[in-house]
Amino acid sequence: MGAQYEVRGNVAVLTLDNPPVNGLGFDTRVQLAQGVERAVADAAVEAIVVTGAGKAFSGGADIKEFGSPKSIAEPNLLSLIKLLEDCPKPVVAAVHSVCMGGGLELALGAHYRVAAPGTNVALPEVKIGLIPGAGGTQRLPRVLGVETALNMIVSGEPVKSEVLASLPGQKLFDKIIEGNVLDGAIAFAAEVAAKPGPHPRVRDFKVSHRDADAYFGFARNMVKGMAKNFPAPVKCVDAVEACLKKKFDDGMLYERETFLALMLTPECKALRHAFFGERAASKIPDVPEDTPQRKIEKVAVIGAGTMGGGIAMNFLNAGLPVVMLEMKQEALDRGVATIRKNYDAQVKKGKLKQDKLDARMALLSTTLNYADIASADLVIEAVFEEMGVKEKVFKTLDEVMKPGAILASNTSTLDVNAIAAFTKRPQDVVGMHFFSPANVMKLLEVVRGEKTAKDVLATVMTIAKKIRKTAVVSGVCDGFIGNRMIEQYSRQAGFLLEEGCTPAQVDKAVEKFGFAMGPFRMGDLAGNDIGWAIRKRRYVEKPHMRYSKTADLLCELGRYGQKTGAGWYDYVPGKRDAIPSKLVEEMIEKHRAEIGVQPRKISDDEIVHRLVYSLVNEAAKILEEGIASKASDIDMVYLTGYGFPLFRGGPMCYADSQGLFNVVQTMKKFAANPHDDASFWQPAPLLAKLAAESKSFT
Ligand code: NAI
Repeated sequence: MGAQYEVRGNVAVLTLDNPPVNGLGFDTRVQLAQGVERAVADAAVEAIVVTGAGKAFSGGADIKEFGSPKSIAEPNLLSLIKLLEDCPKPVVAAVHSVCMGGGLELALGAHYRVAAPGTNVALPEVKIGLIPGAGGTQRLPRVLGVETALNMIVSGEPVKSEVLASLPGQKLFDKIIEGNVLDGAIAFAAEVAAKPGPHPRVRDFKVSHRDADAYFGFARNMVKGMAKNFPAPVKCVDAVEACLKKKFDDGMLYERETFLALMLTPECKALRHAFFGERAASKIPDVPEDTPQRKIEKVAVIGAGTMGGGIAMNFLNAGLPVVMLEMKQEALDRGVATIRKNYDAQVKKGKLKQDKLDARMALLSTTLNYADIASADLVIEAVFEEMGVKEKVFKTLDEVMKPGAILASNTSTLDVNAIAAFTKRPQDVVGMHFFSPANVMKLLEVVRGEKTAKDVLATVMTIAKKIRKTAVVSGVCDGFIGNRMIEQYSRQAGFLLEEGCTPAQVDKAVEKFGFAMGPFRMGDLAGNDIGWAIRKRRYVEKPHMRYSKTADLLCELGRYGQKTGAGWYDYVPGKRDAIPSKLVEEMIEKHRAEIGVQPRKISDDEIVHRLVYSLVNEAAKILEEGIASKASDIDMVYLTGYGFPLFRGGPMCYADSQGLFNVVQTMKKFAANPHDDASFWQPAPLLAKLAAESKSFT
């Protein structure tokens, strides 16, 4: 695999061939360079066409080689582009389907570009914390103008070839080819071969802007405001400005230096970690990628409440028919009305077209009768969180569902093995733990029971992709990955109140660190009664585990959060603004006095590290127990389900960035605090071992 060479008439055709998207890996680069040399040496060849086999022209760098010495070995992308640009025979890039990143930069090195309509054209490097590094910032403005190019580079979003080709004055595409793009490109190449040289090089094109200083000042301010904690978007502006203000070679040098400097930033490392973590999450160590999968063409959802409705929407959005089953018609009617209301809101916001809404609703049917769901390929249970209710449902499913149907539970706390044991087909039972609102949140924890079959897991991971979720496999334990960790985080938040913090002080510190929401605002949003119910259970199951009583006292006042109009904060009816509550502060002070704690001033640094390292220590246990198979899975759970700041890459990536030795030292300090839980702060054995060996989680 690399690049193919053939001659058609007087045109040499070089076809990138490195599935799935013709990534510009080492072998491909070598073979492309050899192809160019061969074509130059062949007197019968008068022009060269570069194209891509299969589903893409090229998606850019080969992610399999990312960061390895091979990725920069010669011929690197820059030398390859120079080879095309300096080629004495005209080079035509024939792009189609996908032309992104290094793929687009390569095409910009050709003398001419022709495109199939519908080609996705993008420079998406900013999404992994970089700027384009092979001339994209210096050549794209020369063919599309400064403003269009900068928009594309800063957003990283794809634009269709025909849209770009219709822009006045654009020089990106010489021709849009309807029909077979290669045939069209060969004909075009034969035409240009007849023209006298030299053939146009993008590096020689003029670039200008009527009011450059004002424009770049404005762009920089806009981008700074939006980019917040990420340095790359502002660097994109700087690099495009360099294109305008520097000579081409100086601009290239500036781009290269900026690219290399960004590569070393923690934000870039975090984004790359998340990018690869997402891909890695779908791979399960003992489930081969070619595991045969079950067909999922029809889905049933049991329970049309908060979760059931959202879960159903995911499948409707993906074009799969869904039957919802409930105990009473009123519950079904309510569930369907909520789904419709959610879709209507999307139509109002212009995010969904009315005909799409109608098509999705047409895929939804309802029933009170199990016989109507018997033929479903996948059934997801989202009924009350009580083992007795789950038992009834799963025993019935076992009786009625067709053989081979996947039986999934959305339970958030119950034992999936026990649920599977209610059936005579535990191999078909799996947990599918969605997060609320289920139609919005990206995260799906796939809970693997002791007996869950490999093909069931493989099928669920595929269907998760189809409904655009980030699926992470978790073993069975209380709270699975995410909620088991958040319990320790909540415990620490409670201790911080006892020791001297206010809820607002804790939330502010955590939000400054980058979390979408601090623990107390989060509690008010989700409902403080949920944690209360869990703690009541814990007081019986784990009498030695200490919890701050503050959250219980709050619930005893009926302050469950936004839904009761008051929680850790006060709320004005109809609004979501959290207003610090005098009453809650007095409640906390009274409690401190009762337990004899003298309040002290606690720094933001201590707040953040007690909360984040509580996640890390529990996560290390989760890893060691094999509940999660890799550290990046834990990070994906926190990035996609719990609002952990993306620019920090997740709790494990963050701990690594601090150095595990330092993490352990800090935990030891926390353990010495008489008001904290010293036993919890004993570093998990895996963490202690990695720290002692100077290793990291990721
Ligand atoms: P809910 O109370 O809003 O909805 C439950 C629905 O199930 C109700 O409409 C009820 O009529 C129906 N139901 C109860 N027993 C039934 C039966 N035997 N047959 C058919 N329908 C029945 O509850 P919610 O919040 O939707 O939770 C459902 C499940 O999802 C629970 O297991 C919960 O732990 C889990 N979960 C909830 C999350 C949340 O944030 N609410 C998040 C993740 C999981």
